[in-house]
Amino acid sequence: VILTQDELKKIAAYKAVEFVKSGMVLGLGTGSTAKHAVDRIGELLRQGKLNNIIGIPTSKKTQEQAISLGIPLSDLDSHPTIDLAIDGADEVDPHLNLVKGRGGSLLREKMVEGACKKFVCIVDESKLVKYLGGSGFALPVEVVPFCWKFTADKLKNLFRDSGCVVKLRNDCKGQPFVTDNGNYIVELYLKKEIGGLQVASDAILRIAGVVEHGMFLDMATTVIVAGELGITINKK
Ligand code: A5P
Repeated sequence: VILTQDELKKIAAYKAVEFVKSGMVLGLGTGSTAKHAVDRIGELLRQGKLNNIIGIPTSKKTQEQAISLGIPLSDLDSHPTIDLAIDGADEVDPHLNLVKGRGGSLLREKMVEGACKKFVCIVDESKLVKYLGGSGFALPVEVVPFCWKFTADKLKNLFRDSGCVVKLRNDCKGQPFVTDNGNYIVELYLKKEIGGLQVASDAILRIAGVVEHGMFLDMATTVIVAGELGITINKK
């Protein structure tokens, strides 16, 4: 049987939910993979197999989904320490560094996942890359709308040796995509591997106008990969 990508996402998500215990404060991820995990948590709550869960959503979309499932919610102000977060990723490198944010929720994801004792990342095997940027997709950077071109030029300049192309992300109507925080997303297309990810991360964050970027370095404590040959659990 050949499984679809969505079935693999669901397998990874359900596996991650096995780490959830009653009484936990949970970071609820965003995207098509995390959606399966949130659905499953809702189902286990409804069946009485889990109780006393508090969810901290990483986007308005996940917040709506969790509300529709009856998952009790709170925020980082009230719960600055989270037991476990479960979320997808766009790319996973061999060191378990991630690129996230294709869904545009990278800022809230980074805040929530940075506050977790455990961050379980769930992916299908198509997300595995040799190096970040290796899938050919862009690195998303959330920027303030004010003079975004100025900020985008600074980003382009930072990676000029990598033949970087920058683009503003648009929504389906051709208007600038606006994040849950009212910001824009600049996409960085890098033609080659970034050497020194932490240095690159710091340099991006030093640019005034940048809010956050989609590299999640040394944050995932576990990555669950679902593939045609089964599930692999990679731990830090
Ligand atoms: C949302 O902003 C992203 O970080 C998602 O977590 C990531 O894009 C993975 O999404 P899928 O599970 O839909 O592939």
